[in-house]
Amino acid sequence: MNISTHEANWFAQQVVNWYQVHGRKTLPWQIAKTPYKVWVSEVMLQQTQVTTVIPFFERFMASFPTVVDLANAPEDEVLHHWTGLGYYARARNLHKAAKLIRDELQGQFPSTLEDVMALPGVGRSTAGAILSLSLGQAHPILDGNVKRVLARFYLVEGWYGVKAVENELWSLSSRVTPVNNVTQFNQAMMDLGASHCSRTKPACTLCPLETKCGAYQQGKTKAFPHPKPKKEKPKKQVYHLIVKANNQLLMEKRPSSGIWGGLFSFFEFTTLDEMQGFIATQGLSKTLQFLEPFVHIFSHFELTITPTVLSLKQTPDVVHSNGLIWYDLACPPAVGLSTPTKKMVKQIAMLG
Ligand code: ADE
Repeated sequence: MNISTHEANWFAQQVVNWYQVHGRKTLPWQIAKTPYKVWVSEVMLQQTQVTTVIPFFERFMASFPTVVDLANAPEDEVLHHWTGLGYYARARNLHKAAKLIRDELQGQFPSTLEDVMALPGVGRSTAGAILSLSLGQAHPILDGNVKRVLARFYLVEGWYGVKAVENELWSLSSRVTPVNNVTQFNQAMMDLGASHCSRTKPACTLCPLETKCGAYQQGKTKAFPHPKPKKEKPKKQVYHLIVKANNQLLMEKRPSSGIWGGLFSFFEFTTLDEMQGFIATQGLSKTLQFLEPFVHIFSHFELTITPTVLSLKQTPDVVHSNGLIWYDLACPPAVGLSTPTKKMVKQIAMLG
């Protein structure tokens, strides 16, 4: 997407102006900023929100005031500080990175994007955040919140799990990120995404980008960003054989494990051949009436059921044995039926 310098400047200026009035400027990692402090805060903020992080951050800094103190601490002690933040892999990476900085970088936190990205657990966005927030280096960022703001503003199509969509968002972020005031701009973008530009209830009238936001202008904030496409469910096909004698339908109890466990259902076959083979072995007539197939949706697959009616002139006396019952339409027994069975029973009752 082509963005003029004028447009990019407008975007940055709006965001920076908003930060100057509404942004948070006194969070513990914003006072006497260092890359080390900002790094720890960013890793904590990847897991939970600002208010939760504050006490964890303060205890962490009291115990490990420098990156070398962190490197020298036993891993258990570092992990202990993570109790309540969840996902210990992040704490382990933090500790591993601190040791790397102590042993290979003379205890100096790296100051180029490339070197920061080389630390375990630090991706491009986190590295950009660390260097822009602590040292004012002009790097773009692209965390989940920033992606949402940009996808809405520029009506970016597609799900950002797709590489091409992510690349487009990176290029938009690079284009609008200013050289001056980058610290304020990046912090404001994350704050905007976490507050006014929230996923479910955006407060567009409070947003400094409202007047030119594509999604807002088109009334499409709900549609952007585009969600991950739903996977198509696998499809299965079965025949249900409805043996009918007068007003009665033959049903079997399903095994207690598996779908419809313990419920009553018609005989089920995966192919027409299998069903016809069964009918032949029972010495029954082969006049079948195929009803309209219908789809039953399970959480993991879609089942198309073809109800097939086999009408008998007389009710044979194979009753109430081997988990079989004659289900009397005029006087339904108190048994559990699977949902598709209920549906088919209703249909048969209507057909008469
Ligand atoms: N999420 C990740 N980093 C953040 C930050 N610096 N401020 C607010 N939310 C964040």
